[in-house]
Amino acid sequence: MAKQFDVAVIGAGAAGMMCAATAGQRGKRVVLIDHAERLAEKIRISGGGRCNFTNINAGPQNYLSENPHFCRSALSRYTPQDFLALVKRHRIAWHEKHRGQLFCDDSSEQIIRMLKAECDAGNVSWRMPCKIAAFEKTADGFVLKTDQGEIAARNVVVATGGLSIPKIGATDLGYRVAKQFDLKVVEPRPGLVPLTFDGPGWAPFAPLAGIALEVDVETGSGKGRNAKRGYFREDLLFTHRGLSGPAILQISSYWQPGTPILLNLLPEIDVAQVLIESKTTLKKQLGNLLSQWLPARLAEGLLLAKGFAPDARLADMPDAKLRQLGDAINRWAIVPTGSEGYRKAEVTLGGVDTRELSQQSMMANKVPGLYFIGETVDVTGWLGGYNFQWAWASGFAAGSAI
Ligand code: FDA
Repeated sequence: MAKQFDVAVIGAGAAGMMCAATAGQRGKRVVLIDHAERLAEKIRISGGGRCNFTNINAGPQNYLSENPHFCRSALSRYTPQDFLALVKRHRIAWHEKHRGQLFCDDSSEQIIRMLKAECDAGNVSWRMPCKIAAFEKTADGFVLKTDQGEIAARNVVVATGGLSIPKIGATDLGYRVAKQFDLKVVEPRPGLVPLTFDGPGWAPFAPLAGIALEVDVETGSGKGRNAKRGYFREDLLFTHRGLSGPAILQISSYWQPGTPILLNLLPEIDVAQVLIESKTTLKKQLGNLLSQWLPARLAEGLLLAKGFAPDARLADMPDAKLRQLGDAINRWAIVPTGSEGYRKAEVTLGGVDTRELSQQSMMANKVPGLYFIGETVDVTGWLGGYNFQWAWASGFAAGSAI
């Protein structure tokens, strides 16, 4: 005989544990199922081991989705302050790093222990590691066939996350379940990921690996409601294969293959104007002049890559050439050849189409009792604690509604 539960939550990650704890503490009989050997690996490795567990400024404007307003309801009913109150109740020391990003002072393990304790407070049953072989709808709920026997539940919450970092257990189960029940899935793709620039065009920049600086970066197209433009001022990092750092991770979520990203390496300086105005007063060489503002290795590398001799004297340069140089620094348009893919992506864009779900409860409109939460859903946050906030908020929404 299958063991009977009110709720089976598949995936004991950030969203799944929050949902299970919330439903359990409301008196529901909850089972939490995960195929991994170790609990919540993604929380463990997050934020460089200190878990950037929320962002105090999180709001719908910080998320990408085909349906940008969908996340509003869940985010407003479980806010960053609500999660912070939980963290404080568990006496976890924390700090704000910058731009509203909150981290543990000590270790992300503390967040895992906190969520586990919250599940215990809700008498949540565990099946872990446990593999799911089949998933069926019955007259009054669902039956999951697993390697630990059959589990029957009136409601099932799918919290299996996205496809990023397959080596720690990411699978496409969430999308497969959605398709099994005829729910649309927005094509998944890697997000918050380094961009690559293969080929001879990148060769002059490869030696710049290791250089970091604050830049403006933008990409995208369209106007009004359908605009998919991203703009960030963040740090850029040159790598051997391309570009990384927060600026690139952020813009990668907006980038479409085949299109350029636009970099401004000196956002506070109109380079062409300053160079032209200084021609008569400054006797400097171009390389020396630019290295007042840019790392010297970058200044030299950029000049060579753009066909300028670093020892050319400013006074000898025609204005048109200086405008060209200014553009190369203030408006550097480059087309990435690709990204580092799911192996390095922090998140997966796309997922279960939100038009299939209730924004209050996260339940599938066509399949009563079936819920999708967390990264499996087509809601993806910026870098900086926004993705965990979505996991907590969507998990809380489903856990409160069931
Ligand atoms: P999550 O991935 O957390 O959990 C899914 C669970 O489902 C896993 O436990 C998995 O084992 C299980 N599962 C998958 N397939 C299954 C199957 N077939 N059967 C059973 N179980 C299955 N975000 C942030 O806000 N701040 C941060 O600091 C970071 N840092 C960060 C670093 C790195 C390296 C990565 C890769 C990601 C981040 N993130 C982040 C993103 C954040 O980790 C992510 O958005 C959330 O963990 C998503 O929560 P979910 O619960 O939806 O999925």
